[in-house]
Amino acid sequence: MSQHSVRTLHADFSATVPAPGDPAMNPPEFPSHAHPWAQLQPHGWQWPCPAGMSVLEAALAHGVELPSSCRNGTCRACRCRLVAGEVRFRIDWPGLSAEEKAEGWILPCVALARTDLALELPPDVG
Ligand code: FES
Repeated sequence: MSQHSVRTLHADFSATVPAPGDPAMNPPEFPSHAHPWAQLQPHGWQWPCPAGMSVLEAALAHGVELPSSCRNGTCRACRCRLVAGEVRFRIDWPGLSAEEKAEGWILPCVALARTDLALELPPDVG
């Protein structure tokens, strides 16, 4: 990988879906809280995402069994679509195409919640 392509990956280090103020960002069912919370749609399961824990680690710590395998951003087993909210990633990962990122796909095992999140599993997993 060239130095230039590494810089490009760093520049595209986060994923954002609707803007703050969009009603999807703060659904009324999210409880009041100190940490961002994640919600899995359409199940409605919710869990807090403390600073430093990936979305997957936080889910598992609260009994939400999201699919996973490698837990380092390479296998794609945990792939979810970010319906609302904002994440940043612990690593540059090769596991998602630019098109997938643009469509809101994230890898929760290496994603850190920056805001409340609404997530969907791929249709073949749900
Ligand atoms: S568990 Fe492998 S990419 Fe997330």
